[in-house]
This record gives sequence, structure tokens and C-alpha cells, in this order.
Amino acid sequence: MKTNRNLFLAVLAAVLTACGGPRPASTVGTTPEVERRVDQLLAKMTLAEKIGQMNQISAGGDPANYAEAVRGGQVGSILNEVDPVRLNEFQRIAVEESRLGIPLLVGRDVIHGFHTVFPIPLGLAATFDPALVEEGARIAALEATAQGIRWTFSPMLDIARDPRWGRMAEGSGEDTWLDARMGEAMVRGYQGTQWDTTSMAACIKHFVGYGAAEGGRDYNSTFLTERQLRNIYLPPFEAAVKAGALTLMTSFNDNDGVPSTGNRFVVKDILRDEWGFDGLVVTDWNSMGEMISHGFGSDRKEVAQQAIEAGVDMDMMTYGYISHLEELVRSGAVKESAINAAVRNILRIKVMLGLFEHPYVDAAAAGAVQYAPEHLDAARRSAEESAVLLKNDGTLPLDAGRVRTILVTGPMADAPHDQLGTWAFDGQKEHTVTPLAALRERFPGRVVYVPGLVNSRQKRDRFDDVVAAARQADVILAFLGEEAILSGEAHSLADLNLKGSQSELLAALKATGKPVVATVMAGRPLTIERDLPNCGALLYAFHPGTMGGPALANLIFGDVTPSGKTPVTFLRTVGQVPMYYSHNMTGRPYQGEMLLDDIEAEAGQTSLGNTSYYLDYGAYPLFPFGFGLSYTRFTYSDPALDGTTYARDGVIRASCTLSNTGGCEGTEVVQVYVRDLVGSLTRPLKELKHFERVTLQAGESCRLEIEIPVSELAFWGLDGTKKVEPGDFQLWISGDSASGEALSFSVR
Ligand code: GLC
Repeated sequence: MKTNRNLFLAVLAAVLTACGGPRPASTVGTTPEVERRVDQLLAKMTLAEKIGQMNQISAGGDPANYAEAVRGGQVGSILNEVDPVRLNEFQRIAVEESRLGIPLLVGRDVIHGFHTVFPIPLGLAATFDPALVEEGARIAALEATAQGIRWTFSPMLDIARDPRWGRMAEGSGEDTWLDARMGEAMVRGYQGTQWDTTSMAACIKHFVGYGAAEGGRDYNSTFLTERQLRNIYLPPFEAAVKAGALTLMTSFNDNDGVPSTGNRFVVKDILRDEWGFDGLVVTDWNSMGEMISHGFGSDRKEVAQQAIEAGVDMDMMTYGYISHLEELVRSGAVKESAINAAVRNILRIKVMLGLFEHPYVDAAAAGAVQYAPEHLDAARRSAEESAVLLKNDGTLPLDAGRVRTILVTGPMADAPHDQLGTWAFDGQKEHTVTPLAALRERFPGRVVYVPGLVNSRQKRDRFDDVVAAARQADVILAFLGEEAILSGEAHSLADLNLKGSQSELLAALKATGKPVVATVMAGRPLTIERDLPNCGALLYAFHPGTMGGPALANLIFGDVTPSGKTPVTFLRTVGQVPMYYSHNMTGRPYQGEMLLDDIEAEAGQTSLGNTSYYLDYGAYPLFPFGFGLSYTRFTYSDPALDGTTYARDGVIRASCTLSNTGGCEGTEVVQVYVRDLVGSLTRPLKELKHFERVTLQAGESCRLEIEIPVSELAFWGLDGTKKVEPGDFQLWISGDSASGEALSFSVR
């Protein structure tokens, strides 16, 4: 459905461009000089050479195996080769042996670090620290570009509200605002602030709605309305485009019956015409070919035509363009102008990255930046900030002077590969510092290691060995969770409890009466309600990356105070899916009605609740979005607004006193939520509109002054336009999505 305004904009943009009128502002930041070079090169190219640029192949191993295709100008980009010597040879063939010498665009999934692996993106989101995330992306770019990789297929911006979906690990969680800020940070970090040989093109993906896969089963259909797309799923992509993202990847899913790789509405009408995106659009791996399986096209020729007509520039591993586009142009089915537009987008990125001037890398020097101390330091800080303290009865922080013997146990205590998490292709486990290694180094001779379980799925009836060791220990550190292989692409789960006998292990440890600290490493929020009673404290570390061990040791022993907040809702049971904080009110919001246990307590109870909740699990999650404890305590007091009524172009100035009322320094992620009480459409209970990290010493207070432009309250309404609708609103300044005092205001 195209709204009138958007249709008008689309037609206007097309007319201006067709008449050679003023180019809409470039989203990638091109210049007249870049465009001159692109046009000059394009004019020399044959149709076959143009189509060759639109072909991306996976090319690992000996370049000689691909020399003929590269020399013949049939390859515009390769992925999955990372060796600098081999990449130099690939480039040499392209630059010195092909007719026009156009360098290859070398891509790789550098998703949360290259060699130095950072926490998985879901963990990075838990930091609520865009500056730190940008720093990590910059480090990833420094390491990857040193080896010749100039394009990463990251950041993944898929909003995910179903933890059964394994790829929740790769994104920034359930919230549009947080996702957008993290995406902007990664784009800035990867691409850098000026174009040089360390600039790595970002690729925002998967466009669009992929995380809403029905049933949480990867690659499954999605059924998002245009309003849901525009109000929830598209804004992070639009923000990343505005941040200058150079490329975008279409998604595997069909949304409302249309696979994204052939979806003109989202790729051409919205991305190209409305947003003016003039970067490169690439398919996902064979997502063009998969449109045959979807039943959207009957053969590779048809799906190639559907993709080019949708505005897709480059074909990853279908060979649809290289096999059929020339024939489609010769037959008149596809205009050569469409090919020219696609090739311009590709050449533009190559010119802007300086590939023509610098196609090669200094292979001998490539290793120097890998795992640099400052990179490892940033990875450790990221892992520290990404951990979320979900429970603490005072067990943490441990006093190193008072615990002699430390028992380390659990399948994730010494898992150097799995600790890196999903999509850590180039992380070398030899460089991983596990919790066991970090604790042994810090407390030589005081750590006893009895794993108890060799992996997360192992089943055991008894834990005599672990229990015996526990009895000799002063404290028990249990590292639990899921291996990297249990999350990520194609790894959906229907049961989110700790697998195997992990919960039984924790219960056995609890029974010893010794203090138990549980740390969970996972790619998603597992359902850990049953485990909470069996530990005094629980840290949720997601998959913390190369430096997870030192980070967790620092957190457990109090060198660092936890500051992470949940980027997704933690459920009590998988049966609550989907449950997220920014849900609609419904006509019957939960009012605290009885639960099953209450009903049995009141025998003969005849009527049950008539509102939206579960009789057995109620209406609330285990932990809400934005939740996280600290070793200190923060209180919010005297919240206020600088007005009661605001103009639509005004600025809301909210203030509040934040106090550190605990016994140590801490950092609080202050969050601001807004609710639109009445709209032309039903509106979410609340939506995050601002967050910031505030560090306070014990006893210190500060007066927070926060500005929220009223324009941030705009949404796509019933009439299909985006605007702020007048009416009454509420605003909360709080430490999570479920607390705080509502302040009222209106917009006129
Ligand atoms: C995969 C993923 C995508 C990745 C691409 C290249 O199937 O869906 O995120 O970037 O293929 O590896």
C-alpha cells in the first residue's frame, strides 16, 4: 500500500533523476568527482562487464581457481577469503589482468569483531553504550581491512521479539530506539569518519522484518503490516542510512507473501525513492534463487528479473544475474538503464573506498594489528559492560581476601570457542581467555576446576565429584548456558530452559550450602526462572567474546560494577512468546487478576480473570526490557517536566534527581519512555525515546536534564503519514521499562 504523500515523493524523485535534475542528497556521501569517475568507467564497460560487477561469489582458497572468471570481468565481489596474500592475488588478477582493471570488493561477516571478538551484538546492545560499540566496530575494521577485507555484512538491525529465533544473538534486541542507536554506532565505527584504507563498508541487514519469523523458526514467513514496518522495523534501517551506511542486504523472508529480494515496495519505493539510498544493495546468500523455493518465481531467469526490478544491485551466490541478465536485456525484458543504475551503485562504493588507488594490502604487516593490546582492552570493557546482573542476594561482589578456595564448574567455564558466540568466523579460540583461565591466573593455587558437565546437553543423575569439591570450597562459580552452535543462523529452539542437567547441577551445588554464583553465557534470553532459587547471584553474560574471562572475573570480584541492562524481555516460560515491553494496551489490559495458584487456594472460585494474561504464568515476564542490577543502588526522585503543553516542533525538557544510595561507585543506564495515550491508531504502552549512562560515586547525586524533541513522538498513523498527533502523553525517567513515576503532558 503506497500512501499518497509517499507516492508523490517517489514520482518527484524519479522525474528529477530522469531529467538529470539535481541529485537528491547522497546518503552515502558521494561527490561530483566520484560520480565523474563512475560515469567515465561505466561508459567504457560492455554489458557483460557491467553484469560481471553485479556478481558476488564465495571464493575461498586458491585464487587460481577463480582466475578465469575474475580476469574475464565476471566477478565484482568475493566473500569468504581472509588471507591477505591470497586476497592480494585475487586483486592482482582483477586489476592487472582484466580489461578494465576494476578491483574486487572483498566482503566478510565481521559481525562482532574480526580476530579480537567482542560480545555478540545482543550483548553489545546490553551495554546501552553506543560509543563503546562504535569503538569496537572501529577495531574490527582496523583488523579486517589490514588483511584486505573492505566490506562487512554487519550491523544486523533485525528487531527480534522471539527468543526461539537463534539470530536474536546477532541483533540489538526488541527495541526500535536501541536498535537504531546501535546500528548508527556500528556504521560509524566500521566506515570511520573519513575515507581511508581502514574504512570498511557497513552492510545493514536483513532488509526487512526477518526477525519476525513466524514461530521463531529461521527463514520462516513474516506477516508484518506496512504500519508495523514503518513504526517498528524500518526506523533502525532509516537511521543507519542517514548515518551513511554504504550497503544493505535483503532478507530471506517473504513478508505478507513477497520475498524481500523481489520486494519493490520496500527496496525501491521506500529505500531508494523515499529515503534516497544511493548505496549498494546485495542479496543474502542465494536469497534470489530462494524465491523459486518460495514459489515467487519459476526459474532463475524470472527471479533475476524480479530482483533487478526491485532495485537489487548485486547477487550473492545465486548466479542469477551472471547467467540471465544479458539475455533479459537483449530481449528487452530488462532495460540496460537498470543495469547501469546497479553498476553505478557498485562502482560508487569501490571508488569511495579508494580501492582503485589501494587494491592491495601489506600482507607482511597485516598481523601487527591483530589482537593488539588496546583491542583486547576494548573487548574486555565491552564484555564487562554487556553483562547484566539479574540477581544478587549480597553474594556479589566476592571479597578476594575472604575466599580461599574457589570451585569453578559448568560447561561454559572453559569453552574458548563457544564463549566467542555465533558468527565469530575469524576469532581464534587460542586467544580466548576463559573464566577458568582468568581465575587461575588471578588466584594461583586457589581454583579447583570440576566441570560437572562436558557440554550443555549432557545429562547426569548425580554430581558426586562436583559436590565433593564444593564442600572443600569457600565459593562456587558455575558457568552455564548454551554453546555458540545453539544460537545464530538456522538455530531456533523450542525449549529455552538450560539444557541437559545444568539446572540439576545448580540445585546440587545449592544443596551444599556454599555460596553459589551462576554466570550464564547464551545467545538469547533463556528461561532461567527455575534456576534463580539455586544461586545467590546470577550474571547474564550473553557470549562475551575473546576477553570474557577477565571481564567476568573483574565483575565477580568487584573490580567492575555491573551496568548492563536487558536488551530483550526475559520470559518466565517459552509459552509467553512473544512478550515485549512496548506492547499495545489491548481493550482488556491485565488488572492483577487471579492466577491458577490463587484459584486453587480459593476453592469453588467460579469466575476467572477477563483480561489479557495467562492463568498459569500471569502477564509479566521474569525480567523486563531495560532491567539490570548493580552492586550499588540508584534512586530516581523529583521527576519534572519544564511544561505541561508542548508544540509539535517543541522540545520536552525532563529532569530528575538520580542518586547513588549504595556503597560503591556505579553506572546507571537512565532510560526515558513515552506513551501516547490516544492516537489515530492504538499505541504502545510505552516506547524508549532516550537513554544515557550516568556514573556516580557512592552517596553522589546529580540532577539529570534530558531533552526529547517532540518530533520524536511522531509515528505513521491511520492516514499513512508520519506526524506527531496532538493529545495527552506520559513520560517516565527510570532504570528499566517497568518502573518509574509517570509525568503527564500534552501536545497541542
Ligand atoms: C548468511 C546470512 C547473512 C550473511 C551471508 C554471508 O546466510 O543470512 O547474514 O551475511 O549469508 O555469509
